[in-house]
Amino acid sequence: MTIFYFTSTGNCLAVAKKIGAKFPESKLISIPQVIDSSDLAFHDDIIGLIFPIYGFGLPEMVRRFMENAKWEAEYAFAIGTYGNMPGAAMRSVQRLASQKGNHFDYAESLLMVDNYLPGFEIDSEIAKLPGKQVDENLARIITDIDTREKQNATASILMRMITAGIGGGRFINVKQAQNFIVNDNCIHCGICAKICPAGNITVTDTVAFADKCEGCQGCVHLCPQNAIHMRNEKSTVRWRHPDVPLGEIVLANQRK
Ligand SMILES: Cc1cc2nc3c(=O)[nH]c(=O)nc-3n(C[C@H](O)[C@H](O)[C@H](O)COP(=O)(O)O)c2cc1C
Ligand code: SF4
Ligand code: SF4
Repeated sequence: MTIFYFTSTGNCLAVAKKIGAKFPESKLISIPQVIDSSDLAFHDDIIGLIFPIYGFGLPEMVRRFMENAKWEAEYAFAIGTYGNMPGAAMRSVQRLASQKGNHFDYAESLLMVDNYLPGFEIDSEIAKLPGKQVDENLARIITDIDTREKQNATASILMRMITAGIGGGRFINVKQAQNFIVNDNCIHCGICAKICPAGNITVTDTVAFADKCEGCQGCVHLCPQNAIHMRNEKSTVRWRHPDVPLGEIVLANQRK
């Protein structure tokens, strides 16, 4: 099995690790590590994609990956992790795969902590976790994958219209970094630059954001000094999935 994933605060990597652990010899590939490759052809018995749902759609980098990758697999699955409402994201990802000559036999979304700081307070999100039954839902998904269940994502016409109206993740990254403020707690450790999946941050005696931001908010959540803030954040509490050490996010996201 080969699992492609994109993560900022570790939810998707935690899911990828859990699924990978159930299937011996599975290989986990972080999309930022392959996105610039000229050869995005893959072959395996099972291929999986795990991504965070952004604006009822896909992160732009995941969309670019989907537009350029070609895979051959006996069985392929897509899982979108989300925090409150998935919109028509899973339907969109299945359709995008078909348009590009690929396929997903199984598409499912998984409710986790919502890391979208302008919308949600992380404390309240963590308090909601028991009701979200993440482990139980993931166990069901793993069984479905193991038994090669087929499942097409559905979305009501209203949800499809709302998703199309807000662009399905397309405008998430536009000028996002202009919304960041780095305060005096910064110790110039360079972690934000290492965990940025877009290679969009340069740390010298200041922290500079270029114009390639993916809008993932990873730098805001993962700064060890909590020195990066969004002008419109709902709270100053941050999130990193407890099963994913910071070093694993660096390995996943650091651009060479
Ligand atoms: C820019 C952005 C947009 C998001 N949009 C949605 C959304 O439309 N619906 C939703 O339920 N969660 C949304 N989320 C929450 C993430 O999908 C969710 O927290 C995901 O599990 C994060 O995965 P990660 O930790 O692997 O990055 C958004 C998060 C970000 C940063
Ligand atoms: S991670 Fe935080 S403390 Fe380190 S350089 Fe970036 S903003 Fe500064
Ligand atoms: S600058 Fe911050 S929000 Fe933008 S892609 Fe990099 S880590 Fe994500």
